[in-house]
Amino acid sequence: MAAATDSVSDADARAFAHARDFLCRVPGLAAAIPPSVPSGRPMVTLTFAQSLDGKISRTDQRLLLSGSESAAMTHRLRTMHDAILVGVGTVAFDDPQLTARLLPPAEIAVAHHPQPVVLDPHLRTPLGARLLSGPRDSPRLRMPWLVAGPDHDRARRAELERCGATVVVVDDCDAAGRPRLDAVAAELHRRGIARLMVEGGARIIQAFLDSRLVDLLLVTVAPVLVGSAGVPAATDVDASSPTIVPVLYEQFGRDVVMAATLQHARNPSLCMGDARQQPCRRHVLDTP
Ligand SMILES: NC(=O)c1ccc[n+]([C@@H]2O[C@H](COP(=O)([O-])OP(=O)(O)OC[C@H]3O[C@@H](n4cnc5c(N)ncnc54)[C@H](OP(=O)(O)O)[C@@H]3O)[C@@H](O)[C@H]2O)c1
Repeated sequence: MAAATDSVSDADARAFAHARDFLCRVPGLAAAIPPSVPSGRPMVTLTFAQSLDGKISRTDQRLLLSGSESAAMTHRLRTMHDAILVGVGTVAFDDPQLTARLLPPAEIAVAHHPQPVVLDPHLRTPLGARLLSGPRDSPRLRMPWLVAGPDHDRARRAELERCGATVVVVDDCDAAGRPRLDAVAAELHRRGIARLMVEGGARIIQAFLDSRLVDLLLVTVAPVLVGSAGVPAATDVDASSPTIVPVLYEQFGRDVVMAATLQHARNPSLCMGDARQQPCRRHVLDTP
């Protein structure tokens, strides 16, 4: 029995070390923010997991695509960002915690947990969401910021604020009343977010790809076919927009992770250099 437990720990330890090693080699993560990231907004990492047929979830039930090794990579990646952003559709469907939990036990107590941010123009975040209850269990976890447009329901806002959320109002909106991503990025930067990790869902992935704000893309591909019940990662993305420059491919258990930089007309390439030579300084332990 003890041997079995030990071997699970060894496997976990290997997965944690692998995640750390891989992310150290991704340009722009381990070292300083590349100068090619425009000032006035965070560096943006877009990350998601997809099936072999390009689906990120199912319409009828929750779907866990990442295996434990790539999930550990994603949690390590979270510690390397100041904030994690998802759309309110993901909060409603998946009820995520958006914390960095899959870390070596010695690190969990001191790990940096990023600020959860929900793009929630009309304040649809459920009052019972785990994002609102989870931080009560740990002083290290942060209450979410809900990014809303100006036309939200004031009573709803008061309820969410009573639950501990901070409502961040962005006035610059599109015709549907959704804050423009440029303006969201600028507001988050103003609030101290230098590195932003965007984790989905489908509409947010598409909106960010179209926005030309994405600097780094990390996609986990799981050897699974989802079929017609699946939600595609992006249905109508402007494919002419970015040039995608794959940087690294890595196998994590049964999954493959691709890290790529995105070059936009007004966002020239991140400086690649030899990523292996970069010091790995942001893994990130707040203390001691
Ligand atoms: N595999 C993965 O890595 C992964 C990760 C996360 C989520 N998911 C999956 O993604 C699915 C949820 O995707 P989803 O598309 O329904 O929801 P979503 O992308 O999480 O959120 C969409 C909502 O965000 C709001 N929003 C704010 N700004 C927006 C903008 N510029 N463009 C579009 N929407 C904006 C809108 O709310 P209003 O309509 O109120 O305006 C919109 O309905 C779930 O099935 C989840 O499991 C998968």
